Amino acid sequence: MLLFREKFPAEWLPMVRANLGAVLVDHAHLERKAATTAITLQKYRQLFHRVHELNAIAIEELQHFELVLGLLERRGIPFSQPMRSPWISGLMATIRNGTENQVIDHLVVCALIEGRSCEKFQVLAEALRTTEPELAAFYASLVESEGNHYASYLIMARHIDEPETTRRLDWYLDRDAELIRQPHSHPILH
Ligand SMILES: [Fe+2]
Ligand SMILES: [Fe+2]
Repeated sequence: MLLFREKFPAEWLPMVRANLGAVLVDHAHLERKAATTAITLQKYRQLFHRVHELNAIAIEELQHFELVLGLLERRGIPFSQPMRSPWISGLMATIRNGTENQVIDHLVVCALIEGRSCEKFQVLAEALRTTEPELAAFYASLVESEGNHYASYLIMARHIDEPETTRRLDWYLDRDAELIRQPHSHPILH
C-alpha cells in the first residue's frame, strides 16, 4: 500500500531506542499536530463537504495524543518543547500556497506524513517487542489508524483532481526520498 521510494536511514531505529523518552514527547506533538491539521484542512472549499470525515480524523488523532500523554505520565516524562522535523518542514515548504492546487499539495503532504508514521510504527512494534512490550503494543495499535489516514487523504485529493494528484504524488515521492536521506541528530520520529 505504501509507495515510498527510499527507506528511512538505518541510523533511525538505534536513535529511537536510545532516546525513547524524547521520541515519545515528539510523538505526542505529532499527534497534536495531526489533530489540528485535520481541522485546518476544513478551510478549503473543496473539502467543506468532508467536514465530518475530517472531524472524525481529528478526534482519532486527539485520542492518540491522549494515549501518548498517558504513556509519558506513567513514565514520569514531562510533556515539553516540540522539536522541528527537517523532513516535515521540507515537505510543508513546497506546498503551493495561494494557488488552486494548494489543497492537493496539502493533502498529499499529509498523506505522506501519515504513511511514514504508519511505516515507522510497524517497525517499532516489531523492534520493541521484547525490550518494551508496552510501547510495542501501543505502536502496533496505531498502525491501522495511521494507514487509514494516509489512504483517506490521498482519496480526498484524487476526488478533487485525479491527474494533478498523480502528478504531485510522483513529485512529492521524490522530495520525500531526497529529504529522508538527509541526516539529522534530533531524537524525533520523522
Ligand atoms: Fe495518530
Ligand atoms: Fe494519523
